[in-house]
Amino acid sequence: MSVPTRLSTAISRQAARQTLPAVRAAPLGVQQQKRTRADASTSHAEFNSPFTRGTSGKKDTTVIPSFKKYRSGSETNNKVFQYFMVGAFGGLSALGAKNTVQDFLVNMSASADVLAQAKVEVDLASIPEGKNVIIKWRGKPVFIRHRTADEIKEADETKWESLRDPQADSERVKKPEWLIMLGVCTHLGCVPIGEAGDFGGWFCPCHGSHYDISGRIRKGPAPLNLEVPEYDFPEDTSLVIG
Ligand code: FES
Repeated sequence: MSVPTRLSTAISRQAARQTLPAVRAAPLGVQQQKRTRADASTSHAEFNSPFTRGTSGKKDTTVIPSFKKYRSGSETNNKVFQYFMVGAFGGLSALGAKNTVQDFLVNMSASADVLAQAKVEVDLASIPEGKNVIIKWRGKPVFIRHRTADEIKEADETKWESLRDPQADSERVKKPEWLIMLGVCTHLGCVPIGEAGDFGGWFCPCHGSHYDISGRIRKGPAPLNLEVPEYDFPEDTSLVIG
């Protein structure tokens, strides 16, 4: 760049710096004019602060604003509405709880096919004297023994008071010739073998428990006699278990 050109550039920059403040000042003046017009138009607007005490007009932020105009006029109406809402929601909650409990009980109760298995009827005429029959009831084996006169006599004459689980034979049977018991060893739940063991009754091979002809524990680790289930004789030759 030549010397005259540099000189002319410097002169024009200097001139621009001097005129710039005037150019910048012009918009400010316009803004001030606008604000003045706006102030003039809103100078009559009123704002009633809810924090003013009222009499002196002195502002006090500790005053609680009044919301009276938003409240209903009657205290009784408010209480009636509150009681209604509480009662309605209480009723709905109780209804929901009742339905929940009812559904739970319905789901948990036994279905029709399970109830049908709850009782089992056995024709006793088909079981000869001196024989065992095993049936399934509620998933467990049930022993039915048609006892002979000798077996009844033996069971009856046993000195039961000194046994591990003392029980008279008469407490374990409804008819002396029919002995009905769960076929589950009272030690750990194996199924004992009939007409076996040292006492002519049942023998559990799992750990060597011996039961007599009344199903009472006589020897081995089992702690209790074989359990007698609920049963009945609706007719002479009919047995219902359960
Ligand atoms: S389960 Fe019968 S003796 Fe152990």
